[in-house]
Amino acid sequence: MQEQPTFLIGNVPIFGDLILAPMDGITDLPFRGLCRRLGSAMSVTEFINALDVLENHPRYPKRHTFEPFHRPLSLQMLGDDADQILAAALQLVPQVQPDIIDINLGCQSKNVTSRGAGAALMREPEKIAAIFRMMCANFSQPITGKIRLGWDEESLNYLEVAHAIQESGGAMIAVHGRTRQQAYRGQARWEPIREVKEALTIPVIANGDVRTVADIDRIQQATGCDAVMIGQAAVGNPWIFSRMDREEVPTQQVKETILDHFNAMLDFYGERGVITFRKYLKAYLAPYDIPTEDLLLLLKSTEPVFIREWLKRYFDRLVKERG
Ligand SMILES: Cc1cc2nc3c(=O)[nH]c(=O)nc-3n(C[C@H](O)[C@H](O)[C@H](O)COP(=O)(O)O)c2cc1C
Repeated sequence: MQEQPTFLIGNVPIFGDLILAPMDGITDLPFRGLCRRLGSAMSVTEFINALDVLENHPRYPKRHTFEPFHRPLSLQMLGDDADQILAAALQLVPQVQPDIIDINLGCQSKNVTSRGAGAALMREPEKIAAIFRMMCANFSQPITGKIRLGWDEESLNYLEVAHAIQESGGAMIAVHGRTRQQAYRGQARWEPIREVKEALTIPVIANGDVRTVADIDRIQQATGCDAVMIGQAAVGNPWIFSRMDREEVPTQQVKETILDHFNAMLDFYGERGVITFRKYLKAYLAPYDIPTEDLLLLLKSTEPVFIREWLKRYFDRLVKERG
């Protein structure tokens, strides 16, 4: 018998209620694949800058590359107006064939907001409505949005923006419980996410400060959301998508996952993968008491064989000690 989907984004069934949040410089093909295998219910690309697409910048194709098992795949577009986002999407979507197209309304970086894109669009709900109307009219894929609570404390317009998205044809909204002004600082607020969920009929995904399995339960209770998006905590603990806190993951599994991730990075990036892997490796090893000089030697190494052997030796010893 066919399993019932947890919820639908437009006509796309989603099985599961935990989703890896899109993160620039983090949620590349290897990391998306790893988290999808561990239980993330779908995959969202890092944002694809519409200007990069229109200028054929060599940087962007690697950001949306994916493997078939990553589906449902959401292609996240970032731009500052409807014509620009549409032009880029018309070029990209037939080639990538995503299941869903997401619009970035939350990016806080100055580079992005200074030209009116990302979270800066929260200040212009009528522009957001135009983007959704235009995208919905041109694509069969569901169009979704990822928002913040507003630009700053004086403009907490999440409900207005959420309605603008729904009424313009949007199929789902993910809400990060912070303002642009907060960037990633301070505690994310979950109560406004509940307000959005109660006000809308389309699915709402809750996001912000979910670090443990207990947090997943708490945010679901607090918001009544359809699913939970997890970002920073997944770096270091991708097993959270299997509802495991870091200390619950068997050492042998930690070892195998780190080595698989490392190999996937080398396959995807070639030599450069060693350096790109460092940020994940540092996070994976954070729970252990490794002498600083040993850790630095490992993190500065450019030798895949050295890194692999170090990890095998370290974790084999741990497995023996801990059983
Ligand atoms: C390094 C980094 C890069 C991010 N890049 C994106 C992005 O490309 N698109 C997006 O919608 N949000 C992006 N975000 C925001 C996250 O998706 C998420 O909303 C935020 O980190 C809060 O969730 P968390 O507390 O679980 O990390 C990024 C966050 C971080 C830390």
